[in-house]
Amino acid sequence: MKLFRFLLSFAAACGGVIPASAAAAAGATAPAPETSAAREITDLRRELARHDRIYHRESAAEISDAEYDRLRQRLAELERDRTVAASSVETAAVIGDDRTGRFPTRGHRERMLSLDKVYAEPDLRAFHRRVTTALGRGDVAYVIEPKYDGLALSLTYERGELVRALTRGNGREGEEVTANALRIVGLPRKLAGGLVPDVMEVRGEVYVPLATFSEVNAAREAAGEARFATPRNLAAGTLRQADADAVAQRGLRFVAFGVGACEPAAVLPETQRAWPARFQAWGFSAIAETWTARGLDELVRAVAACGRTRGVLPFPTDGAVVKVDALAAQRELGASETAPRWAVAYKFAPEQVETRLLAIRFQVGRTGVLTPVAELVPVSLGGTKIARATLHNLSEITRRDLRIGDTVVLEKAGDVIPAIAGVNRSLRPAEAPPFPRPIACPSCYARVGPGDSDGSIRCPNRECPAQIRRRLEHFASRAAVEIAGLGPVMIETLVAEGWVKEVADLYRLSRAELLTLGHDHAKSVDRLLAAIRQSKQTEVWRVIHGLGLPQVGAAKAKELARQYGTLVAFAEHGASRVPALAEAHYQMLVADLIALGVGSAPPPVEAKWAGKTFALTGTLPTLSRAQVTAKIEAMGGKVSGSVSRNTHYVVAGDDPGTKLERAHKLDLPVIDEAELRRMLDEP
Ligand code: IVH
Repeated sequence: MKLFRFLLSFAAACGGVIPASAAAAAGATAPAPETSAAREITDLRRELARHDRIYHRESAAEISDAEYDRLRQRLAELERDRTVAASSVETAAVIGDDRTGRFPTRGHRERMLSLDKVYAEPDLRAFHRRVTTALGRGDVAYVIEPKYDGLALSLTYERGELVRALTRGNGREGEEVTANALRIVGLPRKLAGGLVPDVMEVRGEVYVPLATFSEVNAAREAAGEARFATPRNLAAGTLRQADADAVAQRGLRFVAFGVGACEPAAVLPETQRAWPARFQAWGFSAIAETWTARGLDELVRAVAACGRTRGVLPFPTDGAVVKVDALAAQRELGASETAPRWAVAYKFAPEQVETRLLAIRFQVGRTGVLTPVAELVPVSLGGTKIARATLHNLSEITRRDLRIGDTVVLEKAGDVIPAIAGVNRSLRPAEAPPFPRPIACPSCYARVGPGDSDGSIRCPNRECPAQIRRRLEHFASRAAVEIAGLGPVMIETLVAEGWVKEVADLYRLSRAELLTLGHDHAKSVDRLLAAIRQSKQTEVWRVIHGLGLPQVGAAKAKELARQYGTLVAFAEHGASRVPALAEAHYQMLVADLIALGVGSAPPPVEAKWAGKTFALTGTLPTLSRAQVTAKIEAMGGKVSGSVSRNTHYVVAGDDPGTKLERAHKLDLPVIDEAELRRMLDEP
């Protein structure tokens, strides 16, 4: 069963096709010839290198971490069976390369390695065997830590002062993100305590706490912006963007767990378990939850105990890191090209559960795209009841050959929405026919076309009631024009009565018409009409967003509004930026909205530093106190006479006073005149 589950999920990761050699292992076909394993290895390496590129450089992912791990595990298995010389592709893939080209690169004093990964108890046993054999003794002590799921960062301290922050890069050189790192909550600019080395590279993980992740996504959703898929994407994307303020706003954190180069090395503790206290004494956040174990049995139990904390820890984790406790033993074991031999990452399997597929329904979107939704026998997974799972498009059904009555494997890894990871074919009802391709829209019964190249099918009828409802819901949502009281139930009524076919019709609704719904509704009818009337005064970007043009989210709408200023100018010239705007129905809609007076609010003056407090200390090279204050206030910022936790920036010049000391104590960003000028000039 275990093997079947693996093949099943592996098939899912490979797009439903089980590679010949994997099927052969399950006894499904004759043993695969030599060349096929070699080919699979090459294919897997190439595929993994591609996913690594997307993951490391673009802070995104095409497949879930669980699927990625399965591909990597499969590659490791194949390589174990055959002695395949390590290729450069493989090395690059294992270490990864997160350089984006957007920041200057700089070498690490000591290489930043990766960790070897294991996925099951036998692999852990093999790790323990390798360690004990190399050390020549059996009772090795280990420390087990949660594996934070973020991105690695190396901080260089010279005589206790933070001078540089580098991403891992390719392990030898990383990108310098110091300005952004300085805005990470609780990251010390200066090492505290007595034992301060001359030079030290502190290694750790930048991550976003789970609560912050939900808050950021909720705020983005309310603003009509796309959600971050995982906390890791949020952390990686934020640390590597140009705006240092966003780092502070998005609540990034840093946890220290290791040291690269260190001179003199005598300041370092001699056991791994003593590290957290040492890091805390220097002023870092360190790993608070660790387990210790002596020998294999305790190790297995400790890793399981660490696994049980998943779901209760406040930060994202994807496994446990096992480390040999004694640093002398670590030195003796050394490292391979890519990873230390004294540590290993144990990746937790994603939670899975089987359930039955009752039906596949199609939802009609705003633009007519039909999205299949699987209706399931309700099951519990990762603490939530699941009765439904989105299938992205029709080809997901055909690729997996999903059939009604099938037993499907549901999977939830991390924060991602549960997805169907595979089909248990052995439990398929004998009579289950292949799922037919829909021929008509489930809402208006219009014939649907043959499908787009990406496998999506559309209802071609713009007057389809489902499409109209979705367009109205979008237009009236908080992320767009925001019409209070116009929810899905009211929208359904307006469309069913035939009163509203396009969003502009909202502004033509008559009180008399609405009152036919029942006179006891008079009050809510008046409230709704007032809200609709009031919505005319909304900002231009909200109307542009509300139009539902393809590829125009809130951020793009804001940019377009800034560029064109008015709806009229956007209607006339906007097609050069948004080609769909040239289509007749959009042209008519925008003209209609303009005629009705929608989007008439003047564009707001954005105060870039609204809510930001500055403190000044010392004499600046060219600007007087009054000039600096005027410049900051012109941007909406405030200048305060004292330094506190609420100060955002301290501007320091020559002969600074105690304010600077206080700023360092409070870990506040300190800038000079040049930096202030740069910030003033930034758009
Ligand atoms: S120790 C020589 N401990 O996982 C590498 N790494 O996959 C020593 N990570 O690059 C790393 N939590 O960014 C270590 N408790 C932990 C960790 C951890 C997360 C990351 C780290 C590393 C990656 C390897």
